[in-house]
Amino acid sequence: MGSVFEASPTFSIESERLQISYFLPDSPEHCLFLVELWNSEEFMKTCGRTGIDTAEKASNFIRNRVHTDYARNHYGMFLVSLKPHEHASLAESTPIGSVSLMRGEPPNAYLAPDIGYAFLTKETGKGYATEAALALLAYAKKELGVDSVFGFCGTGDTYSARVLEKIGLEFRGPKKLKVFGGRESAVYALPIMSQDLTVYGLDD
Ligand SMILES: CC(C)(COP(=O)(O)OP(=O)(O)OC[C@H]1O[C@@H](n2cnc3c(N)ncnc32)[C@H](O)[C@@H]1OP(=O)(O)O)[C@@H](O)C(=O)NCCC(=O)NCCS
Repeated sequence: MGSVFEASPTFSIESERLQISYFLPDSPEHCLFLVELWNSEEFMKTCGRTGIDTAEKASNFIRNRVHTDYARNHYGMFLVSLKPHEHASLAESTPIGSVSLMRGEPPNAYLAPDIGYAFLTKETGKGYATEAALALLAYAKKELGVDSVFGFCGTGDTYSARVLEKIGLEFRGPKKLKVFGGRESAVYALPIMSQDLTVYGLDD
């Protein structure tokens, strides 16, 4: 692993309606899309303010943070685009959201990544978060050997919790997480994962 990883601009994980690809710091489309996504009212209500409010800041964030995750884990935050038709190329598709598998660096990292997602408000309620998350989980298991995955969401975040249930994760209770500044979060995990989550680094 390490810095030899190249995020190919033509790589995509395909699902029925979606394409999942790397965020590219030199793509004005990707940078402007991230600004739009992260500054929507819905996003800021559940995920807070990121401070990424210009294309330049988005480009720096993608280069310095997102690509560091790709290099370290071969996964991270991916762009989700909607295909206009079944056999569309990536260039023909329209960005509508993001889906991510994230595992931080010690000491603030657990031994399994967590799955996350965000979609433009006008595209929610159509099953896209569920479809993208299932495709990313299948890819990560098959190609990268990832078979332990967490899901974390705010305790009142019903849409997000519903997605975690629909992709097959189990509710394991509310816990205070070191990854989100000690805030209490609803913790979900794949059913095959030990009931004792301390083995993944979660405190009791
Ligand atoms: C959470 C989020 C990603 C869900 O995306 P989505 O594509 O709508 O998810 P899905 O359609 O796959 O499933 C969402 C579930 O919530 C329901 N839902 C989503 N939006 C809804 C709405 N506006 N009104 C009513 N129900 C809604 C869906 O009906 C579905 O449940 P169901 O299958 O039982 O009907 C999206 O609302 C979002 O981006 N929110 C802002 C960012 C965020 O909260 N990210 C996660 C926190 S880290």
